[in-house]
Amino acid sequence: MKSCISPALAVLFLAGPALAASYQLSDSIVGRAFYDAFDFQAIDDPTHGRVNYVDRSTAQNRNLTYAAGDTFIMRADFTKTLDPDGPGRDSVRIRSKNVYTTHVAVFDVRHMPQGCGTWPAVWTTSEVGWPNGGEVDIVEGVNDLTPNSVTLHTGPGCTMPAWRRETGTSTQLDCNAAVNGNTGCGVKLNTEQSYGPRFNAAGGGWYAVERTPTFIKVWFWSRNDWSVPADVRNGNDNVNTDSWGIPSAFFPNDSCDIEQHFNEHNIIINLTFCGDWAGSVYPSSCPSTCVDQVNNNPADFENAYFDLASLRVYE
Ligand SMILES: *[C@@H]1O[C@H](CO)[C@@H](O)[C@H](O)[C@H]1NC(C)=O
Ligand SMILES: *[C@@H]1O[C@H](CO)[C@@H](O)[C@H](O)[C@H]1NC(C)=O
Ligand SMILES: *[C@@H]1O[C@H](CO)[C@@H](O)[C@H](O)[C@H]1NC(C)=O
Repeated sequence: MKSCISPALAVLFLAGPALAASYQLSDSIVGRAFYDAFDFQAIDDPTHGRVNYVDRSTAQNRNLTYAAGDTFIMRADFTKTLDPDGPGRDSVRIRSKNVYTTHVAVFDVRHMPQGCGTWPAVWTTSEVGWPNGGEVDIVEGVNDLTPNSVTLHTGPGCTMPAWRRETGTSTQLDCNAAVNGNTGCGVKLNTEQSYGPRFNAAGGGWYAVERTPTFIKVWFWSRNDWSVPADVRNGNDNVNTDSWGIPSAFFPNDSCDIEQHFNEHNIIINLTFCGDWAGSVYPSSCPSTCVDQVNNNPADFENAYFDLASLRVYE
């Protein structure tokens, strides 16, 4: 008797659900490969930071970036006292050459910049027509204040439900950058180890983002978490996000058409100082004024660096 489903179709049906959350490695960026995968952006900081972003040759000559084996270091200068009327502290901003839509990115980070006045960020955005192409801030914070906040910024018409399946705590629900001075829709993570000195003391950890046409999820695992998925820990060629558990932050499509609000994104990693956010909240947690601290105390920025073990992107 003839079956009404062909064997090939039956296989498709069985494989369907698993395929949905399974991704294949497309970029494996380790050590020196960061130089090939990213451009250095010696630009003005749109958020008015006390920073001077340098180009690649300056960064390498001054050892502000350094690559060897499975290590890529990216830091601010910690030797120079600054002229108050001159440029800000030398630092680095890198942007991926490749752009991504549906993808998973796993950042294995051993150390992130710490210190009063620091404002580091690992994020993705569209270079055209911000904020209408969206922005996803995966790691972002200021002045060592924990925990990490994961935040989306969009054009009008993208909001998040109050109750959703995530371990973090949502803050503002409207992602529209025009609301409350570009606050965005944020989620505060549920662990102090997700940011700053506590993150570093634990040996860092992994941040992962999954973006599809219908949701954005971010996970964080501290270095010694029992729950780090094996495919993440081992840097496998395939990952299956279905096995990763409840995300730290979840941005569903209930009242936000993700595909419409997010277009092709570059990955950006940068470290600025003071400026619109770190400068405005500075007095609550740090000595002196932010700009004086950055100008006058170079040695306090010795730990203002990223140590990246790898960045793997899956599509
Ligand atoms: C650095 O990152 C922050 C955080 O997302 C961003 O707001 C700021 O514009 C960035 N600065 C530069 C120059 O890219
Ligand atoms: C450059 O930085 C790396 C990483 O921090 C360090 O190991 C190395 O000794 C530095 N090189 C010089 C010449 O300072
Ligand atoms: C949201 O995404 C789900 C799949 O994750 C889909 O079934 C649903 O139709 C989408 N809803 C809207 C309003 O687009």
